[in-house]
Amino acid sequence: MYDLKVPQSEISRQYEYAEKIRALSSGRKYTVVTLGCQMNVRDSETLEGWLKRCGFVPAQNREDADIIIYNTCCVRENAENKALGNVIWLKELKKDKPGLIIGVCGCMMQEEGISGQLKEKYPFIDLVFGTHNAYMFPEYLYRVIASSERVFEVWDIKGYVPEGLPAVRNSRINAFVNIMYGCNNFCSYCIVPYVRGRERSRDPEDILAECRSLKAAGFKEIMLLGQNVNSYMGGGTAFADLLKRVNDIGIERIRFMTSHPKDITRELIECFGTCEHLMPALHLPVQAGNNEILKRMNRSYTNEKYLETVSHLRKVRPDIGLTSDIIVGFPGETRQQFEDTLRLVRHVRFDSAYTFIYSPRKGTPAAKYDDPVSIEEKTAWIEELIALQQCITSEALSGQIGSIQNVLVENVSSRSALTVGGKTPRGLMVNFEGDGSLIGKTVKVKITAAGKNTLKGTMEE
Ligand code: 5AD
Ligand code: SF4
Repeated sequence: MYDLKVPQSEISRQYEYAEKIRALSSGRKYTVVTLGCQMNVRDSETLEGWLKRCGFVPAQNREDADIIIYNTCCVRENAENKALGNVIWLKELKKDKPGLIIGVCGCMMQEEGISGQLKEKYPFIDLVFGTHNAYMFPEYLYRVIASSERVFEVWDIKGYVPEGLPAVRNSRINAFVNIMYGCNNFCSYCIVPYVRGRERSRDPEDILAECRSLKAAGFKEIMLLGQNVNSYMGGGTAFADLLKRVNDIGIERIRFMTSHPKDITRELIECFGTCEHLMPALHLPVQAGNNEILKRMNRSYTNEKYLETVSHLRKVRPDIGLTSDIIVGFPGETRQQFEDTLRLVRHVRFDSAYTFIYSPRKGTPAAKYDDPVSIEEKTAWIEELIALQQCITSEALSGQIGSIQNVLVENVSSRSALTVGGKTPRGLMVNFEGDGSLIGKTVKVKITAAGKNTLKGTMEE
């Protein structure tokens, strides 16, 4: 674990480039398209922050934009295909609008050979950069705009931590706060450590300062983000201690993700009982229920250890809502081993789970393992798992009917201006009658019905 802040002079230089772009022309329109996880969403907020600094304003749609940036994901093959499909389509847009600037960034750009391939095959792409040098975006954009060059800059893993970057936040209520970058776990199926680099933690003081300013700006909920927040170690502070300090700031709601089950400490579990702002919800990806598969995934815990953690969590916080990620059809997984996953899911009763068919990623150990099970069979397995989880989710939601929940209102429904939506402490979505004036408020809602994935209710007077 190492920490290395980008020198502030370097960040200031980027602000100067943003000013130069603004001086060249302002009022041009941007679109940032984000694929992938919350980390990418947060990175896109920074890109938008830079674009705003550069004098750009949001476009209504892609056809209207003067610059389009694709922030890509590479965790599974379909994410990559989606990114490529989208980018190729932009060629047509550029035919009608030759001045359109097209940029591609994010995890996929860190994969070996991708940047070179894009440069050669797609002459309509103007700008490519990776995750490690994304903070240099204004400088690269200036080169594209001022000298009409094509800029393709992807750095090998440097492991820097940039501070003091601008952001246009997606919401006025919930904010993502990165606490660390990268991952050291090398789960055998996962490409993330190769594209996001080794773990590096932000300084706790920088995180706390960001949280304080978010509170001052009126944000009600903070999601602390990292590939594996449990191994946070910034300036000698462990994650549980950071959490307690964030709790003391007094932001209404705190959540965090993602947690690796092997690194959950007793102290962290106790936080669910002692930190009054920490919400009773935890995303704890189990990935598989069979010990042999977990071992070959390099997950460093067993089914028994996972269940022990779950029972400890529930002892401390009986109302905690657990969610998970599950991979089906890891190379060599047998039907019997898959049934251990079904058994675990029945036992733990997650509120919801993201389920994926294993997707081989070039350069990861698992991509070389024998994989005899057909895609048809894996598809049948995942359908079985999804049906089971759907049943459990429905029961969990129905179990809420009749209860009164504190709901933090986040948005007005896109279908009706008279319906608002928000989350319970446990993270369940609730829709109820109300208007935009409720956004940002926490109100008492009586739960009256359960849909497939959300709850319905009525506001208590
Ligand atoms: N194939 C399928 N799913 C994957 N994930 C990560 N790598 C792969 C892969 N190669 C899933 C894991 C992880 C989530 C973000 O994506 O479940 O927790
Ligand atoms: Fe990938 Fe495992 Fe790291 Fe999560 S903990 S990002 S699954 S290597």
